[in-house]
Amino acid sequence: MKKALVAPSILSADFSKLGIEVEMINNSAADWFHIDVMDGVFVPNISFGFPVLKSIQKLAKKTLDVHLMIVQPEKFINDFKSAGADILSIHYEACTHLHRSIYAIKEAGMKAGVAINPHTSVDVLKDILSDIDLVCMMAVNPGFGGQKFIEYTYKKCAQLRTMIDEVGSKCLIEIDGGVNEETAPKLLQSGADVLVAGNYVFSSSNPVQIISSLKNLSV
Ligand code: DX5
Ligand code: ZN
Repeated sequence: MKKALVAPSILSADFSKLGIEVEMINNSAADWFHIDVMDGVFVPNISFGFPVLKSIQKLAKKTLDVHLMIVQPEKFINDFKSAGADILSIHYEACTHLHRSIYAIKEAGMKAGVAINPHTSVDVLKDILSDIDLVCMMAVNPGFGGQKFIEYTYKKCAQLRTMIDEVGSKCLIEIDGGVNEETAPKLLQSGADVLVAGNYVFSSSNPVQIISSLKNLSV
């Protein structure tokens, strides 16, 4: 029986009470904090940067899974390590020298993830699967929480599962965007390992219960 790792996305939290939101996640069944950093260039939105990440790190008692939606992410690898990132994901579409950047992340002492946009085929990851710890597969176009799940993500997830199993990599598949009670079970059946959930968790009157319900799913 396999259960997903659950990573609530801080992007949908109420930033006027960020400490309380972090404590809620600490005391929930969540496994990771998912933290979205946006630069207004790679994506049409700006979220937050190092000062906020450092504040989260002070209180967080779980893995910090940082998803960079920025151009030239290689410039900031050591800064994200200092700010508390445990896992650092960079976008395939934002990296000219992806292999070099992945090894820079590992050398800095973090786990390395590669994020792909909905239009990017999983085939581009074939040669690099053994080098990475995580694929962050976007199920919406990155930039905003609360968007509609793109249906062909199930097929991409299943394709990636087959590719990972074929090479015998321990790389995890994380699905980011549109995770809810309808999509989550199908994603698990398609081979997902990690479920990111923003709007689904934080728009609920009982986020702890929503996190538990995701954690209790199994295939
Ligand atoms: C979108 C972000 C996601 C976002 C997911 O660019 O990468 O992590 O918070 O939000 P929901 O779960 O609301 O689709
Ligand atoms: Zn994300």
